[in-house]
Amino acid sequence: MIKKAVIPAAGLGTRFLPATKAQPKEMLPIIDTPTIQYVVQEAVDSGIEDILIISGKGKRTIEDHFDRNFELESRLAKKEDERFYNEVMRIADMANIHYIRQKEVNGLGDAIYHARQHVGNEPFAVLLGDTIVNSIIPVTQQLIDSYEQYRCSIIAVEEVPHDKVSRYGIAGGQSVSEKIMEVQNLVEKPSPNEAPSNLAIAGRYILTPEIFRAIENTPKGKGNEVQLTDALHLLMKRERLVSNTIEGKRYDIGNKLDFLKTTVEFALRRKEFATDFREYLKEVLKESK
Ligand code: UTP
Repeated sequence: MIKKAVIPAAGLGTRFLPATKAQPKEMLPIIDTPTIQYVVQEAVDSGIEDILIISGKGKRTIEDHFDRNFELESRLAKKEDERFYNEVMRIADMANIHYIRQKEVNGLGDAIYHARQHVGNEPFAVLLGDTIVNSIIPVTQQLIDSYEQYRCSIIAVEEVPHDKVSRYGIAGGQSVSEKIMEVQNLVEKPSPNEAPSNLAIAGRYILTPEIFRAIENTPKGKGNEVQLTDALHLLMKRERLVSNTIEGKRYDIGNKLDFLKTTVEFALRRKEFATDFREYLKEVLKESK
């Protein structure tokens, strides 16, 4: 069974400057909840018991968020504000969370390499700290279920429109079933006519420990960083790698437009203000014509 997850959250978030100059993009809230809390919740809902967050410079608020805050707790207790008190206590108790610092931002491959001692010799889940997936069955759970069947590394993919493939990492290969594909090719941001499919890598993975050997042998690539996609190319030569088309919708809050879309969509799902917000949107759209 897969019980450990790694959440890389040490990146600089340059696409979201200036907001990310002094605060982690993983703490940017979607309405009232930091992005990384949705990610941790998905891991917990998927049966993960142990989480390692790859942290770094300027990321301390992530640790504070998942820690106790006695002053706040006692203030809420005195105010008899049960709902917030319970929520604040729950966040500090969500999972067994550990941290390790990536001292230099050397890429996603390098970030994951920092987890090798913690995860040891077992397969583990990876959830990008800046990506939320909205789904009925938590997407990490979907990957774990597929792992039980295929017993190899798995990358989550989602279908994207053909004319938008150049925005994503795209996986190509041989279809095994409706949702599983034997991965034979991974291409970063291909043009639509070069793309091997329209299946975009969706920020969730199950990886076997062999990935660490692959990362060790991966030279620095794009941006002079160790890219996970390059390491997966090496892994593919040594081991089976499949993709799993997920049921759900992925939101990459690391770019501003997707962040806005996420906020709007999540707000429209919130019972307490969905109706008012929908009315407001209609009016704003009418006015902006
Ligand atoms: P991104 O490439 O989206 O994050 O990595 P970034 O580098 O912060 O983004 P930009 O391009 O500068 O805006 C996906 C996830 O991997 C983490 C990030 O924090 C993010 O959650 N990451 C990335 C690391 O932990 N370490 C790295 O060296 C790079």
